[in-house]
Amino acid sequence: MIKAITGTKDILPSDISKWYFLENLIKKIFSKFNYKEIRTPIFENTSLFARGIGEATDIVSKEMYTFLDRSGESLTLRPELTASVVRALIEHSLEKKQSLNKLFYIGPMFRQERPQAGRYRQFHQFGAESIGSNDPLLDAEMIIMAFDILAQLGLKNLEVKINSLGVPSEREDYKNVLREYLKSHLSNLSEESKKRFETNVLRIFDSKDERDIEIMKHAPLLINYLKDESLSHFETVKSTLKKANVNFSVDSSLVRGLDYYTHTTFEIVSKSVGSQSALCGGGRYNGLVKELGGSDLPGVGFAAGMERILLACENENVLSIPEDKIDLYIITLDKTKSELSYNIAISLRRKNLTVELDYLLRSVKAQMREANKLNAKYVLFVGGEELKNNEVVLKNMLNSEQENISLNEIEKLIKKIGE
Ligand code: HAM
Repeated sequence: MIKAITGTKDILPSDISKWYFLENLIKKIFSKFNYKEIRTPIFENTSLFARGIGEATDIVSKEMYTFLDRSGESLTLRPELTASVVRALIEHSLEKKQSLNKLFYIGPMFRQERPQAGRYRQFHQFGAESIGSNDPLLDAEMIIMAFDILAQLGLKNLEVKINSLGVPSEREDYKNVLREYLKSHLSNLSEESKKRFETNVLRIFDSKDERDIEIMKHAPLLINYLKDESLSHFETVKSTLKKANVNFSVDSSLVRGLDYYTHTTFEIVSKSVGSQSALCGGGRYNGLVKELGGSDLPGVGFAAGMERILLACENENVLSIPEDKIDLYIITLDKTKSELSYNIAISLRRKNLTVELDYLLRSVKAQMREANKLNAKYVLFVGGEELKNNEVVLKNMLNSEQENISLNEIEKLIKKIGE
Protein backbone atom coordinates (compact mmCIF):
# COMPACT_ATOMS: atom_id res chain seq x y z
CA MET A 1 0.00 0.00 0.00
CA ILE A 2 1.28 3.47 -0.83
CA LYS A 3 1.28 5.68 2.26
CA ALA A 4 1.63 9.41 2.80
CA ILE A 5 5.24 10.58 2.95
CA THR A 6 6.86 10.66 6.41
CA GLY A 7 6.24 13.98 8.10
CA THR A 8 3.16 14.83 6.02
CA LYS A 9 -0.40 14.62 7.25
CA ASP A 10 -3.82 14.25 5.68
CA ILE A 11 -6.33 16.74 7.02
CA LEU A 12 -9.45 14.60 7.13
CA PRO A 13 -13.04 15.89 6.86
CA SER A 14 -13.51 15.26 10.60
CA ASP A 15 -10.83 17.87 11.32
CA ILE A 16 -11.56 20.40 8.63
CA SER A 17 -13.92 22.59 10.66
CA LYS A 18 -11.06 23.45 13.05
CA TRP A 19 -8.97 24.56 10.09
CA TYR A 20 -11.82 26.64 8.66
CA PHE A 21 -12.35 28.23 12.07
CA LEU A 22 -8.66 29.09 12.43
CA GLU A 23 -8.41 30.38 8.86
CA ASN A 24 -11.49 32.57 9.26
CA LEU A 25 -10.18 34.06 12.51
CA ILE A 26 -6.80 34.77 10.91
CA LYS A 27 -8.43 36.50 7.94
CA LYS A 28 -10.71 38.51 10.23
CA ILE A 29 -7.92 39.80 12.47
CA PHE A 30 -5.52 40.55 9.60
CA SER A 31 -8.24 42.47 7.77
CA LYS A 32 -8.96 44.58 10.91
CA PHE A 33 -5.32 45.66 10.79
CA ASN A 34 -5.71 46.30 7.03
CA TYR A 35 -3.43 43.51 5.78
CA LYS A 36 -4.17 42.16 2.27
CA GLU A 37 -3.67 38.55 1.26
CA ILE A 38 -0.86 37.58 -1.10
CA ARG A 39 -0.51 34.12 -2.71
CA THR A 40 2.84 33.14 -4.19
CA PRO A 41 3.93 29.88 -5.89
CA ILE A 42 4.76 26.77 -3.87
CA PHE A 43 8.21 26.53 -5.51
CA GLU A 44 10.81 29.12 -6.35
CA ASN A 45 14.37 29.34 -7.60
CA THR A 46 16.66 27.82 -4.96
CA SER A 47 18.85 30.93 -4.96
CA LEU A 48 15.96 33.02 -3.58
CA PHE A 49 15.96 31.09 -0.29
CA ALA A 50 19.74 30.61 -0.21
CA ARG A 51 20.25 34.37 -0.48
CA GLY A 52 17.23 35.41 1.54
CA ILE A 53 17.42 33.05 4.52
CA GLY A 54 21.22 32.57 4.50
CA GLU A 55 23.46 29.72 3.27
CA ALA A 56 24.69 28.85 6.77
CA THR A 57 21.23 28.48 8.34
CA ASP A 58 19.83 25.04 9.17
CA ILE A 59 16.92 25.64 6.81
CA VAL A 60 19.12 26.25 3.77
CA SER A 61 21.99 23.92 4.57
CA LYS A 62 19.98 20.91 5.80
CA GLU A 63 16.25 21.17 5.42
CA MET A 64 15.18 22.36 1.99
CA TYR A 65 13.42 20.19 -0.56
CA THR A 66 15.57 21.09 -3.54
CA PHE A 67 15.47 19.38 -6.92
CA LEU A 68 16.51 19.89 -10.50
CA ASP A 69 13.60 20.15 -12.90
CA ARG A 70 13.71 18.59 -16.37
CA SER A 71 15.54 21.58 -17.78
CA GLY A 72 18.22 21.37 -15.09
CA GLU A 73 17.06 24.38 -13.09
CA SER A 74 17.43 24.16 -9.29
CA LEU A 75 14.04 24.65 -7.64
CA THR A 76 13.00 24.52 -3.98
CA LEU A 77 9.67 23.93 -2.27
CA ARG A 78 9.20 27.01 -0.12
CA PRO A 79 10.45 26.48 3.46
CA GLU A 80 8.98 29.85 4.54
CA LEU A 81 7.32 32.79 2.82
CA THR A 82 9.17 35.98 3.75
CA ALA A 83 11.68 35.60 0.90
CA SER A 84 8.89 34.80 -1.59
CA VAL A 85 6.80 37.79 -0.50
CA VAL A 86 9.80 40.09 -0.85
CA ARG A 87 10.53 38.61 -4.30
CA ALA A 88 6.92 39.25 -5.37
CA LEU A 89 7.04 42.80 -4.01
CA ILE A 90 10.19 43.57 -5.99
CA GLU A 91 9.00 41.78 -9.15
CA HIS A 92 5.69 43.68 -9.24
CA SER A 93 7.12 46.98 -7.91
CA LEU A 94 4.43 46.96 -5.24
CA GLU A 95 6.29 49.69 -3.35
CA LYS A 96 5.59 52.10 -6.22
CA LYS A 97 1.84 51.59 -5.90
CA GLN A 98 1.79 51.63 -2.11
CA SER A 99 4.61 53.00 0.02
CA LEU A 100 3.77 50.70 2.91
CA ASN A 101 2.69 47.21 1.88
CA LYS A 102 0.86 45.24 4.57
CA LEU A 103 0.51 41.66 3.37
CA PHE A 104 -0.60 38.35 4.85
CA TYR A 105 -0.57 34.71 3.76
CA ILE A 106 -1.77 31.24 4.70
CA GLY A 107 -0.39 28.07 3.15
CA PRO A 108 1.83 24.99 3.19
CA MET A 109 5.62 25.13 3.73
CA PHE A 110 8.19 22.33 3.41
CA ARG A 111 11.23 21.49 5.52
CA GLN A 112 13.00 18.14 5.77
CA GLU A 113 13.28 18.09 9.55
CA ARG A 114 13.08 15.06 11.82
CA PRO A 115 9.33 14.58 12.28
CA GLN A 116 7.88 14.58 15.80
CA ALA A 117 4.74 15.93 17.51
CA GLY A 118 4.35 19.51 16.27
CA ARG A 119 7.12 19.16 13.67
CA TYR A 120 6.29 18.09 10.15
CA ARG A 121 7.85 18.10 6.72
CA GLN A 122 4.82 19.71 5.15
CA PHE A 123 3.24 22.11 7.61
CA HIS A 124 1.06 25.20 7.35
CA GLN A 125 1.89 28.74 8.31
CA PHE A 126 -0.03 31.94 8.40
CA GLY A 127 1.96 35.10 8.58
CA ALA A 128 2.18 38.79 7.83
CA GLU A 129 4.81 41.06 6.35
CA SER A 130 4.82 44.83 6.49
CA ILE A 131 7.30 46.31 4.04
CA GLY A 132 8.27 49.99 3.65
CA SER A 133 8.62 51.44 7.14
CA ASN A 134 11.08 51.25 10.01
CA ASP A 135 8.48 52.37 12.55
CA PRO A 136 8.81 50.27 15.73
CA LEU A 137 5.03 50.52 16.06
CA LEU A 138 4.88 47.99 13.22
CA ASP A 139 7.19 45.59 15.11
CA ALA A 140 4.73 45.84 18.00
CA GLU A 141 1.77 45.47 15.60
CA MET A 142 3.10 42.07 14.46
CA ILE A 143 3.38 40.84 18.02
CA ILE A 144 -0.06 42.21 18.91
CA MET A 145 -1.72 40.57 15.87
CA ALA A 146 -0.08 37.21 16.56
CA PHE A 147 -0.99 37.46 20.23
CA ASP A 148 -4.60 38.47 19.51
CA ILE A 149 -5.13 35.52 17.18
CA LEU A 150 -3.80 33.08 19.77
CA ALA A 151 -5.71 34.72 22.61
CA GLN A 152 -8.98 34.78 20.64
CA LEU A 153 -8.64 31.05 20.12
CA GLY A 154 -8.79 30.83 23.90
CA LEU A 155 -5.16 29.84 24.44
CA LYS A 156 -3.86 30.78 27.88
CA ASN A 157 -0.44 29.26 28.47
CA LEU A 158 1.33 31.74 26.23
CA GLU A 159 4.68 33.41 26.70
CA VAL A 160 5.81 36.28 24.47
CA LYS A 161 9.60 36.55 24.20
CA ILE A 162 11.28 39.46 22.50
CA ASN A 163 14.82 40.53 21.77
CA SER A 164 16.74 43.01 19.65
CA LEU A 165 19.55 42.01 17.29
CA GLY A 166 20.39 45.62 16.42
CA VAL A 167 21.87 46.50 13.04
CA PRO A 168 24.47 44.40 11.14
CA SER A 169 27.47 46.49 12.18
CA GLU A 170 26.56 46.17 15.88
CA ARG A 171 26.08 42.46 15.41
CA GLU A 172 29.42 42.03 13.64
CA ASP A 173 31.24 43.82 16.48
CA TYR A 174 29.39 41.70 19.01
CA LYS A 175 30.20 38.45 17.17
CA ASN A 176 33.89 39.24 17.68
CA VAL A 177 33.26 39.76 21.40
CA LEU A 178 31.33 36.48 21.56
CA ARG A 179 34.03 34.56 19.67
CA GLU A 180 36.64 36.01 22.01
CA TYR A 181 34.64 34.75 25.01
CA LEU A 182 34.09 31.33 23.42
CA LYS A 183 37.73 30.78 22.45
CA SER A 184 38.63 29.57 25.92
CA HIS A 185 35.59 27.23 25.99
CA LEU A 186 35.96 25.90 22.46
CA SER A 187 37.13 22.41 23.40
CA ASN A 188 34.09 21.98 25.68
CA LEU A 189 31.50 22.95 23.06
CA SER A 190 29.43 20.32 21.24
CA GLU A 191 30.55 19.34 17.74
CA GLU A 192 27.60 21.25 16.22
CA SER A 193 28.50 24.40 18.16
CA LYS A 194 32.16 24.09 17.19
CA LYS A 195 30.98 24.25 13.57
CA ARG A 196 28.70 27.18 14.36
CA PHE A 197 31.62 28.98 15.98
CA GLU A 198 32.99 29.32 12.46
CA THR A 199 29.79 29.67 10.41
CA ASN A 200 27.07 31.24 12.56
CA VAL A 201 28.30 31.93 16.05
CA LEU A 202 25.04 33.52 17.27
CA ARG A 203 23.16 30.26 16.74
CA ILE A 204 25.15 28.63 19.56
CA PHE A 205 22.53 30.29 21.77
CA ASP A 206 19.97 27.87 20.24
CA SER A 207 21.92 24.76 21.22
CA LYS A 208 20.08 22.21 23.34
CA ASP A 209 23.34 20.60 24.52
CA GLU A 210 23.71 20.89 28.32
CA ARG A 211 27.40 21.88 28.16
CA ASP A 212 26.72 24.53 25.53
CA ILE A 213 23.83 25.92 27.59
CA GLU A 214 26.08 26.23 30.65
CA ILE A 215 28.78 28.01 28.66
CA MET A 216 26.29 30.35 26.97
CA LYS A 217 24.74 31.29 30.34
CA HIS A 218 27.81 33.38 31.06
CA ALA A 219 28.32 34.72 27.52
CA PRO A 220 28.25 38.46 26.86
CA LEU A 221 24.87 39.59 25.51
CA LEU A 222 24.25 41.47 22.28
CA ILE A 223 21.80 43.83 23.94
CA ASN A 224 24.73 45.34 25.87
CA TYR A 225 26.52 46.16 22.63
CA LEU A 226 23.66 48.03 20.93
CA LYS A 227 23.93 51.76 20.27
CA ASP A 228 21.37 54.43 21.18
CA GLU A 229 19.31 54.23 17.98
CA SER A 230 18.78 50.48 18.26
CA LEU A 231 18.05 50.73 21.96
CA SER A 232 15.46 53.44 21.43
CA HIS A 233 13.77 51.37 18.69
CA PHE A 234 13.57 48.47 21.13
CA GLU A 235 12.28 50.70 23.95
CA THR A 236 9.39 51.87 21.74
CA VAL A 237 8.48 48.27 20.90
CA LYS A 238 8.43 47.40 24.58
CA SER A 239 6.40 50.41 25.71
CA THR A 240 3.89 49.89 22.87
CA LEU A 241 3.35 46.28 23.90
CA LYS A 242 2.82 47.35 27.50
CA LYS A 243 0.17 49.86 26.45
CA ALA A 244 -1.55 47.16 24.40
CA ASN A 245 -1.58 44.83 27.44
CA VAL A 246 0.64 42.20 25.89
CA ASN A 247 2.82 40.68 28.59
CA PHE A 248 6.30 39.79 27.41
CA SER A 249 9.76 38.96 28.64
CA VAL A 250 13.05 40.02 27.10
CA ASP A 251 15.07 36.96 26.11
CA SER A 252 18.54 38.10 25.11
CA SER A 253 19.39 34.73 23.61
CA LEU A 254 16.54 34.80 21.09
CA VAL A 255 18.56 34.90 17.89
CA ARG A 256 16.16 32.92 15.61
CA GLY A 257 17.24 30.59 12.85
CA LEU A 258 17.08 32.88 9.83
CA ASP A 259 19.83 35.31 8.87
CA TYR A 260 17.75 38.26 7.72
CA TYR A 261 16.78 39.71 11.10
CA THR A 262 17.72 43.17 12.33
CA HIS A 263 16.40 44.92 15.46
CA THR A 264 13.35 43.17 16.93
CA THR A 265 12.95 39.40 17.02
CA PHE A 266 10.15 37.62 18.84
CA GLU A 267 8.52 34.28 19.51
CA ILE A 268 5.33 33.25 21.22
CA VAL A 269 5.70 29.90 22.93
CA SER A 270 3.05 27.71 24.47
CA LYS A 271 3.57 25.77 27.66
CA SER A 272 0.79 23.39 26.56
CA VAL A 273 2.71 21.59 23.83
CA GLY A 274 5.89 19.52 24.05
CA SER A 275 9.35 20.46 22.89
CA GLN A 276 8.10 22.11 19.68
CA SER A 277 6.66 24.95 21.69
CA ALA A 278 7.18 27.96 19.39
CA LEU A 279 3.74 28.76 18.00
CA CYS A 280 5.07 31.69 16.04
CA GLY A 281 8.17 33.72 15.39
CA GLY A 282 9.23 36.77 13.52
CA GLY A 283 11.07 40.02 13.51
CA ARG A 284 12.37 42.95 11.54
CA TYR A 285 14.47 42.48 8.38
CA ASN A 286 15.68 45.86 7.19
CA GLY A 287 18.31 44.53 4.75
CA LEU A 288 16.35 41.80 3.00
CA VAL A 289 14.62 43.71 0.20
CA LYS A 290 17.94 45.20 -0.90
CA GLU A 291 19.70 41.84 -0.53
CA LEU A 292 17.19 40.33 -2.93
CA GLY A 293 17.73 43.04 -5.53
CA GLY A 294 15.10 45.61 -4.57
CA SER A 295 15.42 49.10 -3.17
CA ASP A 296 16.55 49.76 0.38
CA LEU A 297 13.22 49.09 2.11
CA PRO A 298 12.77 48.04 5.72
CA GLY A 299 10.38 45.25 6.64
CA VAL A 300 8.99 43.35 9.59
CA GLY A 301 6.85 40.23 9.87
CA PHE A 302 6.05 36.94 11.54
CA ALA A 303 4.78 33.47 10.76
CA ALA A 304 2.93 30.94 12.89
CA GLY A 305 2.66 27.16 12.66
CA MET A 306 -0.97 26.14 12.31
CA GLU A 307 -0.54 22.46 13.29
CA ARG A 308 1.18 23.54 16.51
CA ILE A 309 -1.55 26.03 17.29
CA LEU A 310 -4.25 23.40 16.79
CA LEU A 311 -2.25 21.01 18.98
CA ALA A 312 -2.07 23.65 21.74
CA CYS A 313 -5.84 24.21 21.39
CA GLU A 314 -6.45 20.50 21.73
CA ASN A 315 -4.21 20.23 24.80
CA GLU A 316 -5.87 23.23 26.46
CA ASN A 317 -9.29 21.98 25.41
CA VAL A 318 -10.32 25.25 23.81
CA LEU A 319 -11.83 25.81 20.35
CA SER A 320 -15.29 24.36 20.74
CA ILE A 321 -16.59 24.11 17.22
CA PRO A 322 -20.32 23.56 16.78
CA GLU A 323 -21.18 20.13 15.32
CA ASP A 324 -21.78 19.97 11.58
CA LYS A 325 -25.46 20.06 10.68
CA ILE A 326 -27.41 19.79 7.46
CA ASP A 327 -30.75 21.49 6.79
CA LEU A 328 -32.56 18.54 5.29
CA TYR A 329 -32.26 14.83 4.61
CA ILE A 330 -34.62 13.44 2.00
CA ILE A 331 -35.83 9.92 2.72
CA THR A 332 -37.17 8.10 -0.33
CA LEU A 333 -39.89 5.69 0.82
CA ASP A 334 -40.45 4.17 -2.58
CA LYS A 335 -37.38 3.51 -4.70
CA THR A 336 -39.26 4.30 -7.92
CA LYS A 337 -39.46 7.90 -6.64
CA SER A 338 -35.67 8.37 -6.32
CA GLU A 339 -35.60 10.74 -9.27
CA LEU A 340 -38.22 12.99 -7.67
CA SER A 341 -36.16 13.09 -4.43
CA TYR A 342 -33.09 13.95 -6.46
CA ASN A 343 -34.86 16.77 -8.29
CA ILE A 344 -36.22 18.21 -5.04
CA ALA A 345 -32.68 18.10 -3.57
CA ILE A 346 -31.21 19.94 -6.54
CA SER A 347 -33.82 22.71 -6.45
CA LEU A 348 -33.47 23.20 -2.66
CA ARG A 349 -29.66 23.27 -2.86
CA ARG A 350 -30.02 25.96 -5.50
CA LYS A 351 -32.09 27.88 -2.94
CA ASN A 352 -29.14 27.78 -0.53
CA LEU A 353 -30.18 24.86 1.69
CA THR A 354 -27.79 22.04 2.67
CA VAL A 355 -29.51 18.89 1.51
CA GLU A 356 -28.53 15.24 1.38
CA LEU A 357 -30.30 12.10 0.19
CA ASP A 358 -29.65 8.42 -0.34
CA TYR A 359 -27.49 7.21 -3.23
CA LEU A 360 -27.11 3.63 -2.00
CA LEU A 361 -30.74 2.40 -2.32
CA ARG A 362 -30.82 1.92 1.44
CA SER A 363 -33.83 0.84 3.51
CA VAL A 364 -35.98 3.53 5.12
CA LYS A 365 -34.51 2.60 8.51
CA ALA A 366 -30.96 2.99 7.21
CA GLN A 367 -31.84 6.34 5.62
CA MET A 368 -33.26 7.52 8.97
CA ARG A 369 -30.04 6.47 10.69
CA GLU A 370 -28.06 8.45 8.12
CA ALA A 371 -30.25 11.53 8.70
CA ASN A 372 -29.45 11.33 12.42
CA LYS A 373 -25.77 10.82 11.79
CA LEU A 374 -25.70 13.94 9.63
CA ASN A 375 -27.57 15.96 12.29
CA ALA A 376 -30.34 16.85 9.86
CA LYS A 377 -32.61 19.61 11.16
CA TYR A 378 -35.47 18.34 8.99
CA VAL A 379 -36.32 15.13 7.19
CA LEU A 380 -38.53 15.01 4.10
CA PHE A 381 -40.38 11.78 3.28
CA VAL A 382 -40.97 11.29 -0.42
CA GLY A 383 -43.27 8.45 -1.59
CA GLY A 384 -46.07 6.53 0.12
CA GLU A 385 -49.73 7.49 0.39
CA GLU A 386 -49.13 11.27 0.58
CA LEU A 387 -47.44 11.38 -2.80
CA LYS A 388 -50.62 10.11 -4.42
CA ASN A 389 -52.06 13.53 -3.39
CA ASN A 390 -48.92 15.21 -4.69
CA GLU A 391 -47.67 15.79 -1.13
CA VAL A 392 -44.49 15.12 0.82
CA VAL A 393 -44.09 14.97 4.61
CA LEU A 394 -41.69 17.31 6.42
CA LYS A 395 -40.54 16.30 9.89
CA ASN A 396 -38.84 18.67 12.31
CA MET A 397 -36.19 16.52 13.99
CA LEU A 398 -36.01 18.75 17.04
CA ASN A 399 -39.66 18.52 18.14
CA SER A 400 -40.81 15.64 15.88
CA GLU A 401 -43.66 17.75 14.46
CA GLN A 402 -44.80 16.63 11.03
CA GLU A 403 -46.54 18.52 8.29
CA ASN A 404 -47.80 17.59 4.83
CA ILE A 405 -46.64 19.95 2.13
CA SER A 406 -47.84 20.05 -1.45
CA LEU A 407 -45.19 19.69 -4.11
CA ASN A 408 -46.68 22.83 -5.69
CA GLU A 409 -45.80 24.73 -2.52
CA ILE A 410 -42.06 24.15 -2.53
CA GLU A 411 -41.55 27.82 -1.55
CA LYS A 412 -43.33 27.08 1.73
CA LEU A 413 -40.89 24.25 2.34
CA ILE A 414 -37.91 26.47 1.75
CA LYS A 415 -39.29 29.10 4.09
CA LYS A 416 -39.93 26.58 6.85
CA ILE A 417 -36.53 24.94 6.66
CA GLY A 418 -34.67 28.20 6.32
CA GLU A 419 -36.24 29.68 9.48
P1 HAM B 1 10.16 30.21 11.63
O1 HAM B 1 10.45 30.46 13.06
O2 HAM B 1 11.11 29.39 10.86
O3 HAM B 1 9.99 31.64 10.96
O4 HAM B 1 8.72 29.55 11.50
C1 HAM B 1 7.59 30.15 12.07
C2 HAM B 1 6.72 29.11 12.75
O5 HAM B 1 6.40 28.05 11.82
C3 HAM B 1 7.37 28.39 13.91
O6 HAM B 1 7.26 29.16 15.11
C4 HAM B 1 6.54 27.12 13.99
O7 HAM B 1 5.33 27.35 14.69
C5 HAM B 1 6.21 26.85 12.54
N1 HAM B 1 7.09 25.80 12.02
C6 HAM B 1 8.36 25.95 11.57
N2 HAM B 1 8.85 24.74 11.17
C7 HAM B 1 7.87 23.83 11.38
C8 HAM B 1 7.75 22.42 11.17
N3 HAM B 1 8.74 21.71 10.64
N4 HAM B 1 6.59 21.81 11.52
C9 HAM B 1 5.56 22.54 12.05
N5 HAM B 1 5.61 23.87 12.25
C10 HAM B 1 6.74 24.51 11.93
C11 HAM B 1 9.71 31.84 9.64
O8 HAM B 1 9.31 30.99 8.89
C12 HAM B 1 9.83 33.30 9.22
N6 HAM B 1 9.50 33.38 7.80
C13 HAM B 1 8.93 34.18 10.06
C14 HAM B 1 8.99 35.61 9.64
C15 HAM B 1 8.12 36.24 8.83
N7 HAM B 1 9.91 36.49 9.99
C16 HAM B 1 9.64 37.65 9.42
N8 HAM B 1 8.58 37.52 8.70
